[in-house]
Amino acid sequence: MDREKLMDTLIPQAWEAAKNAYVPYSGFRVGAALLTKSGVVYPGCNIENSAYGPSNCAERTAVFSAVARGEREFAAIAVVGKFADGTPAGGDGFAYPCGVCRQVLAEFCSPEDFLVLLENAQGERKALTLGELLPYGFVLRD
Ligand code: THU
Repeated sequence: MDREKLMDTLIPQAWEAAKNAYVPYSGFRVGAALLTKSGVVYPGCNIENSAYGPSNCAERTAVFSAVARGEREFAAIAVVGKFADGTPAGGDGFAYPCGVCRQVLAEFCSPEDFLVLLENAQGERKALTLGELLPYGFVLRD
């Protein structure tokens, strides 16, 4: 599937997942839709906690749900986010995966081939490889 079609498929599912975000502290809703190489999509949303530290990002929710189902091979993830009142994220408005989520993705996903698909609150889209997002990522063993 080409990048445009992948975005058309996964980005609406990521926005749908964002509706389940539990964000009483930040108010920033993030949704993810993780596609396995076999064609299954796992949703994820951010889940915050009153102690802050235990909060979980949408991307990791999706990866951990998928891995808990026995999945290990992934093709792409769509990630979207905005504040509950519609305000976009800072910078250029894309909800880029945080450093921790990039490292978690790198555990299972190829830096050359795995695609991170983004849409901001203004409807602009962007596709990046994992390697573009996490250059020189830590690798313990090949
Ligand atoms: N968040 C994500 O879900 N994914 C990221 O990659 C970055 C940040 C969440 C964490 C927190 O619930 C909210 O966004 C504000 O930081």
